Amino acid sequence: MENLSQVKELLKNSKRVCVLTGAGVSAESGIPTFRGGGDSAVWKGMPFEKISSAEMVEKDLDAVWEWFDHRRALYKDCLPNAAHRAFTLWQERFEEFTLITQNVDGLHERAGSREILELHGNINHAKCVDCSGIYRIDPQIVPHQPSECSECGSKLRPDVVLFGEMLPIETFQKAERRSKRCDVFFVVGTSALVYPAIGLADLAKYAGAKLVEVNPEETPMTSFCDFSLCGNAGDIIPLI
Ligand code: OAD
Ligand code: ZN
Repeated sequence: MENLSQVKELLKNSKRVCVLTGAGVSAESGIPTFRGGGDSAVWKGMPFEKISSAEMVEKDLDAVWEWFDHRRALYKDCLPNAAHRAFTLWQERFEEFTLITQNVDGLHERAGSREILELHGNINHAKCVDCSGIYRIDPQIVPHQPSECSECGSKLRPDVVLFGEMLPIETFQKAERRSKRCDVFFVVGTSALVYPAIGLADLAKYAGAKLVEVNPEETPMTSFCDFSLCGNAGDIIPLI
């Protein structure tokens, strides 16, 4: 692959590298993507945009938990793959390495990545609906043990960014700062449809970074990238 050797060459002189991952990076761990066809994105007849919405938290928090426990059950026995593992080496390799993920499955952390900017939250965290206190949930316990906030007694909800909600502002701002000053920005396994996450790639590019995409399919981002590596993340990332 000509592009692959060019990307390797590019990285020889790169000090600051950002990676944005999406559901595709976990596909080889057995986690279905959102827009990959099949019925994984529909639950009890509801499309995931509906059941994963801020409106549903208000209307039926129990149903929201049921859906997230269904997903936690799917994720419970999934292990990090070769791409997740390779990124743990990248954090030692570059002067500044920033791993930004849209995934809520926690697999980057399980692989051993230290600092992860989780733009969409984490499925194994719960958040108080009133005071925003964060609680860890044991990934192996499904369904989760319902509980109340120990600070204020209010209900807990999944700590996942839902449709109609803002991204965690501090995490996003940090991702913006890192994106603006990196030399190379990788877009890995994302359909590049969901803003503002994918806007980080635009920021990086306009600030002068080279953009590299890793995806077995074309996306709206492909023609905007400097290099496109067509294939599975688990094959390509370790080669890089
Ligand atoms: P999508 O399901 O939209 O896209 C998955 C992408 O991964 C597609 O472009 C596939 O071609 C690609 N892909 C599939 N297998 C792959 C592999 N083995 N290696 C590399 N790429 C592969 O998932 P996202 O782009 O992550 O938000 O979706 C973005 C957001 O949409 C999600 O974070 C989620 C959803 O709304 C929240 O849950 C808040
Ligand atoms: Zn509380």
